[in-house]
Amino acid sequence: MAYKINFDESIPDMIERLKQEHVQFKITLNKITKYNEENNINKAIETIHDMSQPIIKHAVEEEARLMRVIMHNAKEESADSIKIMQEHNWVVDFLKQKILTIKENIDKQQDGLDIQFQQKAQNEINEFVTNLKNHFEEEEQIVFPLALKADLR
Ligand SMILES: [Fe+2]
Repeated sequence: MAYKINFDESIPDMIERLKQEHVQFKITLNKITKYNEENNINKAIETIHDMSQPIIKHAVEEEARLMRVIMHNAKEESADSIKIMQEHNWVVDFLKQKILTIKENIDKQQDGLDIQFQQKAQNEINEFVTNLKNHFEEEEQIVFPLALKADLR
């Protein structure tokens, strides 16, 4: 699907907004961890599903606007930022594919969940939550400052 990118928003304004979105996403990720701890895996999956479109839109904006200004004005310093943006591949893969596989497998087990299976699904979800929080952190430490710097050049 295509997302409309607003090129009128300034880079500093956009970064402020993206940081606020990270705060909101982290609140949701903490809820997912809590549902997992309560063995409410259906609720954890549903919550991931609900946040998937906003996260994908957020990632597309980072690539379209922030990487654009970095590649134009700070290409020689772009290596780490490019690596961080490539992490969007596993984020999108998890949100579009992996979570569906997890859900299908859980739905198949109608009479009582296999404990080992449930544990595996919970581990995969927990790993996603941890990795995504780290990803946000890396963006705020590396990509956002470089985009702000590049924007001034
Ligand atoms: Fe990102």
